[in-house]
Amino acid sequence: MQNSSPEKVTPVLTGNPVISATGLFTPEDSITNEELVESFNAYVERFNTAHAVAIAAGEIEPLAPSSVEFIEKASGIKARHVMSKAPILDPDIMAPRWEARSNEEFSMMAEIGVAAARQALERAGRDPGDVDAVLCAASNMERPYPAMAIEIQQALGIDGFGFDMNVACSSATFGIQTAADYIRSGNAKSVLVVSPEITSGHLNWRDRDSHFIFGDVATAVLVEDAAIAPAKHWDILGTKLKTVFSNNIRNNFGFLNRAHPESAGTADKLFVQEGRKVFKEVVPMVAQMIVDEAARLGIDPQALRRLWLHQANAGMNRLISHRVLGHEATDDESPTVLDTYGNTSSAGSIIAFHLNSDDLSAGDTGLICSFGAGYSAGTVFVRKAA
Ligand code: COA
Repeated sequence: MQNSSPEKVTPVLTGNPVISATGLFTPEDSITNEELVESFNAYVERFNTAHAVAIAAGEIEPLAPSSVEFIEKASGIKARHVMSKAPILDPDIMAPRWEARSNEEFSMMAEIGVAAARQALERAGRDPGDVDAVLCAASNMERPYPAMAIEIQQALGIDGFGFDMNVACSSATFGIQTAADYIRSGNAKSVLVVSPEITSGHLNWRDRDSHFIFGDVATAVLVEDAAIAPAKHWDILGTKLKTVFSNNIRNNFGFLNRAHPESAGTADKLFVQEGRKVFKEVVPMVAQMIVDEAARLGIDPQALRRLWLHQANAGMNRLISHRVLGHEATDDESPTVLDTYGNTSSAGSIIAFHLNSDDLSAGDTGLICSFGAGYSAGTVFVRKAA
């Protein structure tokens, strides 16, 4: 009798993923540290005046003022772009505000995602009709469904599929590896990874420890098969992802909040972190991951021409780049966008790459690297093709 078990099929890996182009949308409005601290301290003064009796009686703690010097020294952040400046700076509001949009209007994330995506498509000379998939890879989703990725897909006239994915600050690099894997497997030839980060919605602008951290932005990365990519592209030499569970960066907002309405609106429904612990734990984890992955790929980390690191803290980037390069990195070797953009979650390393990669020469190798909540970290080693 003949053996009826199905024949083993060995998958044929066909594609060779590259980065064809990137795009960036930057909101017009920007808030300087001086403006931010002035508004925060006005809020603190009002609070302490309003609660003077309770504070004097030792019933509640007075709020402490923020400081421009602390923010710059501790983080390297000098300003951040936002979608809605005036209400954030209004001590009575301290949150973004805009008109609610109807279901027939563009959602906010899709709107800025499309702006970044159009720039990436233009720079690659790619007709949206030839893109196979859209991944909306971001930290703070505007709604659970329908996916923002599908709205972006429709707005751009892309046939195929789209879905949202959230790996916090590492969403974009996780998106790049996902896109690269579709191309490696032959399931797609052109994939847009869009990261609209409207972080001003989840930031607690009344929290002294974190009110200065985040900014709004959108980035897009077009990952394609080398066979169809423009001559001017970046070869992807290797991608690596890592997650390790931690509560040190957390946001408890979600639809199950309805199950315990008494805790609605508490501070943990916005961004909360143990910044010092994050700093101490993530720096060695990421530095080791980069060095190990470089060894696996046969790349000398000290020969990397540029590091486009996650943009959360200038001190973290200094330590990580020192460990990787073996010396204190210059601004040219490890550029920062923290000073003008702040922490833009998953978009940070992509902004750094977008704004600081045109000057490199063919053959130069570099690293896009993200890290953040989860913990999550991702590396994308690239080499300029032309
Ligand atoms: N203005 C003035 N002083 C402030 C302040 C503010 N806005 N916020 C905190 N301080 C004070 C604290 O009260 C503390 O005072 P103390 O020493 O008298 O107790 C002191 O400054 C140090 O606070 P700390 O929170 O330990 O600061 P830090 O040096 O750790 O810097 C971060 C804070 C958030 C900038 C830093 O920890 C960081 O960036 N960590 C990594 C975060 C990260 O990557 N997160 C990922 C997010 S996606």
